[in-house]
Amino acid sequence: MNTENLAVVIGGTGSIGGAISEQIRSLGFKEIIKIGRMTNPSIDFNDEQTIKNAAEFIKNKKKAISILFDATGILHDEENNQMPEKTLKNINLKFAQKNFLINTIGPSLLIKHFAPLLDSEQKSVFATLSAKVGSISDNGFGGWYSYRASKAALNQLIKTASIEMKIKNKNSIFIALHPGTVKSKLSKPFQKSNLKIQTPEESAAHLITIIKELKTSETGKFFNWDGTELPW
Ligand SMILES: NC(=O)c1ccc[n+]([C@@H]2O[C@H](COP(=O)([O-])OP(=O)(O)OC[C@H]3O[C@@H](n4cnc5c(N)ncnc54)[C@H](OP(=O)(O)O)[C@@H]3O)[C@@H](O)[C@H]2O)c1
Repeated sequence: MNTENLAVVIGGTGSIGGAISEQIRSLGFKEIIKIGRMTNPSIDFNDEQTIKNAAEFIKNKKKAISILFDATGILHDEENNQMPEKTLKNINLKFAQKNFLINTIGPSLLIKHFAPLLDSEQKSVFATLSAKVGSISDNGFGGWYSYRASKAALNQLIKTASIEMKIKNKNSIFIALHPGTVKSKLSKPFQKSNLKIQTPEESAAHLITIIKELKTSETGKFFNWDGTELPW
């Protein structure tokens, strides 16, 4: 991986995204661009033009991207006082749409606009924060309909993009990552004492080790924070 290139963290303003940016610095990258809804450039998944403008901004730097890390996502919606659905009768259109917009459609537009900027001469990585609850074969508890489904769809997107990108850029790697249960605004209502809870720094250190050690043959896979492969 060419550390003279750029590293870009979308959702670099979030808990895990912020810690990932620091970890990327320890790999030797000098230019790490953190993007959130209030940064310059900014990205808001409600507006594709913001994604296009941010990609244009990066392109004008005339350097390729070696790490593109997507740390965006929602689980609950504070503005509308909406928690993940425990049962079918809790499903509502607005909350379901918001989950799919931010957890699935937004990342797909990131791939659309940013994949052409990934380094094609040496290893480059597009990693997105998915969640283990998005694994269909691992679903033992049910509930959290919109979040689970939006992350399962995100996983399918990563797999599909990895297949197209094998032809377009054979040095690019597309992966989904489960960060573990990590202390953040997103997980705050669900931090049970029986769960292993990591700080964003601990989780980010594990995730960056995975990225560092990835081989191009591992594109299109889903990894747990400890480096083990997760089933779709
Ligand atoms: N924390 C956990 O335990 C846990 C477990 C499994 C998976 N994950 C996944 O890890 C990811 C990050 O979680 P986190 O705990 O770090 O959450 P967080 O601190 O709440 O960060 C969420 C990020 O998403 C961005 N975002 C929200 N709405 C957006 C929109 N409309 N357009 C663009 N960006 C938007 C936020 O940007 P602003 O700063 O601009 O608001 C922020 O950077 C999520 O995908 C989550 O599902 C987390």
